[in-house]
Amino acid sequence: MARPHQLFIKKQVQTDLYKKTGLEKTLTAFSLTTMGIGAIVGAGIFITPGLIAANYAGPGVMLSYLIAVVVCAMAALCYSEFSSTIPLAGSAYTYVYAVFGEFTAWILGWALISEYLFAVSSVAVSWSSYFQNLLAGFGFKLPAFFRAAAGTAGVKGGGIDLVALVITMLVAWLLSKGIRESAKINNIMVIVKILVILLFIGIAVFYVKPANYNPFLPFGTAGIFKGAAVAFYAYIGFDAVSTASEEVKNPKRNMPIGIISSLLVAAVLYIGLSAVLVGVVHYTKLSVADPVALALSLIHQNWASGVVSFGAIVGMTTVLIVMSYGGTRLLFAISRDGLLPARLKKLNPKTHVPVANTWIFGVLASLFAAVIPIDKIAELVNIGTLSAFAMVSLGIVFLRHDERFKNLDTSFKVPWYPFLPIASFLACLYLMTQLQAFTWLAFAVWVVLGLIVYMSYGYHHSVVRQQVEG
Ligand code: ALA
Repeated sequence: MARPHQLFIKKQVQTDLYKKTGLEKTLTAFSLTTMGIGAIVGAGIFITPGLIAANYAGPGVMLSYLIAVVVCAMAALCYSEFSSTIPLAGSAYTYVYAVFGEFTAWILGWALISEYLFAVSSVAVSWSSYFQNLLAGFGFKLPAFFRAAAGTAGVKGGGIDLVALVITMLVAWLLSKGIRESAKINNIMVIVKILVILLFIGIAVFYVKPANYNPFLPFGTAGIFKGAAVAFYAYIGFDAVSTASEEVKNPKRNMPIGIISSLLVAAVLYIGLSAVLVGVVHYTKLSVADPVALALSLIHQNWASGVVSFGAIVGMTTVLIVMSYGGTRLLFAISRDGLLPARLKKLNPKTHVPVANTWIFGVLASLFAAVIPIDKIAELVNIGTLSAFAMVSLGIVFLRHDERFKNLDTSFKVPWYPFLPIASFLACLYLMTQLQAFTWLAFAVWVVLGLIVYMSYGYHHSVVRQQVEG
């Protein structure tokens, strides 16, 4: 039987910092930034700006993106302090293990697994719909049963999303081949993605009608904040960068640079794109799955519409790659601590990739993508992420007071301490309150499942507990 104080046993990370882990150190600040942009800019820019404008914020949509990036930037600074203090795979999970102890870390790790799994699944479903649109342009249509999951709005006779299933498995195959190849492909795709967003802005800006900005806030200021809770989805992914700490050269310098600069680039692209989008198309017409392509067809730039759709597919592919990567490294870290079966930490001796873990993650994500409708999956992504961000922000306050970390040479510290971490914590909680009851319910079920796994397996196999108890 677990005794309460044993549940909160803490990981002693100082010794681990200098241990050779087996993962290769190949990533630089630049590759982290491209990895971050790869993880961040995806379905959130190619689908959500139109929905936010039409349903929540009106032409003030860029303010929603601005508020969301402020919340994310605060959390990102906290992430940076943690990841430069404790540069080990596992991201927030590892930080919380060191500061709050095992039980809290497990709950958080379990929440993060849901974030990564559902983020990959939701982006795969958006990828599939853009891809099918592009195919339709060449006159090719899948049978209705394979087009989307049963119950997907606007699709009659849907059964499974075949394209989403296949793309998720392809990404798992790519990652199983090793980080070098994945990072190279990711870099090329990130460049394509940025170019198509700039192409859209560069063409559409000449068709902006000032009248479309009036009224600027048709749903009032409350709409901006509701919109911010949705816009938050578009920034998810920067935290995936910190899961790569063990594979980064000089993580103390490179981690904060990588995380913050990828977030900044994303914010500039989102705010620029949404400002132009609502200037070209009246916000009331933007409740569509492909608002960017719609704007370009309205201004008769059909060639650009095709190019941008292609870029959207490429853009979402990088999100799939980086979020899958983050998920597999999280499973690796949890399994290394004994809280999940050892099979998940087994590295291929040649490629240093946790191959079995990569395939298990890929199969699960592809199953969710194939059978759960997009609106349901997307609902689930934000709550796990926000709970992680909240804990990491609060964790900074405890980290600063923890004797074990006082002498560690960390080169990055959160500015305006303790105001900023506390503000970040409260802002994350606030955005959580904006999520729907269904999301909270589903998350509660997921957490109960996690408790069962922990009590029946993790607690008894914990490496940290075995070390302490000898
Ligand atoms: N931020 C990711 C995206 O927008 C989830 O696709």
